[in-house]
Amino acid sequence: MVGNKQQQKQLGLLMVAALALAVAPSPAWCRELYYSNSSSSSYEESASAASRGSEGPMVTAVIVFGDSIVDPGNNNNLKTQIKANHAPYGMNFTDSIPTGRYSNGLIPTDFIVQGLKVKQLLPPYLGVELSTEDLRTGVSFASGATGYDPLTPVIVSVITLDQQLEYFGEYRKRLVAAVGEEETARIIEGALFVVCAGTDDIANTYFTTPFRSVEYDIPSYVDLLVSGADSFLDKVAALGARKIGFVGLPPIGCVPSQRTLGGGPHRNCEEKRNYAAKLFNSRMEEAIANKDPKTRTVYIDIYGILNELVVNGAKYGFTETTKGCCGSGKIEVTGLCDSRFVDVCDDVDAHVFFDSYHPTQNAYKIIVQNIFDNYLQFLLA
Ligand SMILES: *[C@@H]1O[C@H](CO)[C@@H](O)[C@H](O)[C@H]1NC(C)=O
Ligand SMILES: *[C@@H]1O[C@H](CO)[C@@H](O)[C@H](O)[C@H]1NC(C)=O
Repeated sequence: MVGNKQQQKQLGLLMVAALALAVAPSPAWCRELYYSNSSSSSYEESASAASRGSEGPMVTAVIVFGDSIVDPGNNNNLKTQIKANHAPYGMNFTDSIPTGRYSNGLIPTDFIVQGLKVKQLLPPYLGVELSTEDLRTGVSFASGATGYDPLTPVIVSVITLDQQLEYFGEYRKRLVAAVGEEETARIIEGALFVVCAGTDDIANTYFTTPFRSVEYDIPSYVDLLVSGADSFLDKVAALGARKIGFVGLPPIGCVPSQRTLGGGPHRNCEEKRNYAAKLFNSRMEEAIANKDPKTRTVYIDIYGILNELVVNGAKYGFTETTKGCCGSGKIEVTGLCDSRFVDVCDDVDAHVFFDSYHPTQNAYKIIVQNIFDNYLQFLLA
């Protein structure tokens, strides 16, 4: 199905050029924190700002499933090209460490745990030592370039969503061993679960490889994704989740690499990708409205705010909204965004996108604030 080795390699490269974009949630009061006028928006600053408040954590833990938007480094030890554990990724992280986060600094999951006053960073489940405290307060199982279409992670050899659920089972056992069954149940019941994927399905699997587009038109491919996402939400609820934030798709056609691949000589936003994203979003919003209220599932729109940053970037201090900061900014993602081969811009904070697929820390911060402002009350109610 995926062709021979050679084809697979070429596809891998194409996919690297096309990669994924998905964002996750966070509360209203953190607007002040993040925007607290500091000219620099360093991690330390947001972090210490987040810990200044007097109230305790707003949830017991944050548990995340999904793709590169919420992956803090789970792909680092995989045999895949989809990794961000090399410079210039992390150039604005503490000590410029390229942790595997797909940005110049923090990613949405970090802003979410800070905003909820749970901790400063959400660690990956794989590849790092996790203390009992780390386990108690949650981890991310996300894997860059995975998706709801079972073919998507296979093409690029990353972790499937079902495998992420299996890792959760392992995580739960470790938590039980550390804090006991009763406390584990309390933690899971009080946790915010975040599900964020789907961009790679559309940008990579559908629009870049031939495997699905020969068989499916956009509405029927969206059907496939909706059925995958809907059943994944049921599986997360079955883990004992009581609060789930489901992150919708961004305007995929406006991401720099997708402008380059589909937007013609002027690199316009590519309308078919945007249409697919909007169709998926409206279908999921509907599906979520019909879910069993025993698990509070909230549809979180990020299409609007990212589109706003792209269209009205100047209002938010962005002067470059169509190109990434890494390399030419038109195509470089993961393996192609590598300090050994390309330079970075000297004004990363004025860019919406860091590589040609993923937002900068600055843009992520605004996106998460927007999510907190609009959805926190529903998630925590
Ligand atoms: C924010 O920055 C402006 C301009 O530097 C300054 O006038 C204002 O007092 C600052 N506000 C806060 C809350 O620090
Ligand atoms: C990010 O890092 C670059 C290069 O070291 C630096 O010029 C820039 O000011 C940093 N931005 C932030 C927000 O720390």
